[in-house]
Amino acid sequence: MDVLKGDSAGFEGILNRLMELSRIAALAEMASGIAHELNQPLGAIATFSQAGDRLLNRPEPLVPRAREVFQQINAEAMNAGEGIRRIRRLFDHAEPTRIRCQMSELVAELVPALYALAGAAHVSLKVEAQSPLPEVNVDRLRIQLVLFSLVQNAIEASTQQDGAQALIAVRADRYAVETSITDSGAGVPADLADKLFRPFFTTKAGGTGLGLASSRASIEAHEGSIGFEKLKPTGSRFWFRLPIVTS
Ligand SMILES: Nc1ncnc2c1ncn2[C@@H]1O[C@H](COP(=O)(O)OP(=O)(O)O)[C@@H](O)[C@H]1O
Ligand SMILES: [Mg+2]
Repeated sequence: MDVLKGDSAGFEGILNRLMELSRIAALAEMASGIAHELNQPLGAIATFSQAGDRLLNRPEPLVPRAREVFQQINAEAMNAGEGIRRIRRLFDHAEPTRIRCQMSELVAELVPALYALAGAAHVSLKVEAQSPLPEVNVDRLRIQLVLFSLVQNAIEASTQQDGAQALIAVRADRYAVETSITDSGAGVPADLADKLFRPFFTTKAGGTGLGLASSRASIEAHEGSIGFEKLKPTGSRFWFRLPIVTS
C-alpha cells in the first residue's frame, strides 16, 4: 500500500492559496446573500414610488390611493431591514467561550503557521514574550485570528523589501497584556491613518479591507483596545491590549 507523503515544500504555497480562496468565497457568498435579500424590496420600492408619483402628479391627485402606495413602500422597506437583520443573525454567534490563559500560549500555538507564511514571503519573523505573564480571559481562536490578521498585514507591508523583518512581542503592565507586531514596511501614510479600521478600506489590489475592522470588533468585544504607531525611519507597530484577569 502506498503511503501518502506530505510535501512540506509546497505547504506554504497551498496554505496561502487556500486562505485567499476561503476569504474570497466567503465574501462572494455574503455579497450574494445581501443582494438576494435587498433586490426584491428595492425593485418594489422603485415601482411603488413611480406609481405614487403618477397618482399625485395629476390635476386631481388621488390622495387615498397614493397613501396606500406609501404604506406598501414602507412595508417593503421594513422587509429589506428584516433581510439585513437575518443576515446579521447568521454571524451573531452565541457568547464567545472565554477561558483564562496566557497570551504567550496563544502565540506559541499559532507560530508554526506564522513562520510558514513569513518564510514564503521571505520575511524574517521573530517572537519575544515576557515570562511569566499575567492571565487574560479570552476566546482563544478569535484572538488568534486577530494576531494572524496583523501578522499577515505586517508580511504584506514588507514583502517587497530585502531583509524584511517582523517582530511579535508580548508584554504586560499593571492593567493589560499587550501584543504588538512590528514590521519594517513603508508605514501608513499620514492621510490614511484614520481610515485603516473602516470596513472595506484597503489599499491592496486583492484586499478585502476587513482584517483590521474585524480585529477591532474582536478586541473591543474583549474590553480591550487596538491601535498602531508609525516607526522611524520606517515601518509600523500595530498593537492590541487585553485586560488582565484580576480575581
Ligand atoms: N502593517 C501595515 N503597514 C502599512 N499599512 C498597513 C499595515 N496594516 C494595514 N495597513 C493598511 O490598512 C489597510 C487595511 O488593512 P486590512 O483591514 O487588514 O485589509 P487588507 O489587508 O485586506 O487591505 C491595508 O490595505 C493597508 O493600507
Ligand atoms: Mg489585512
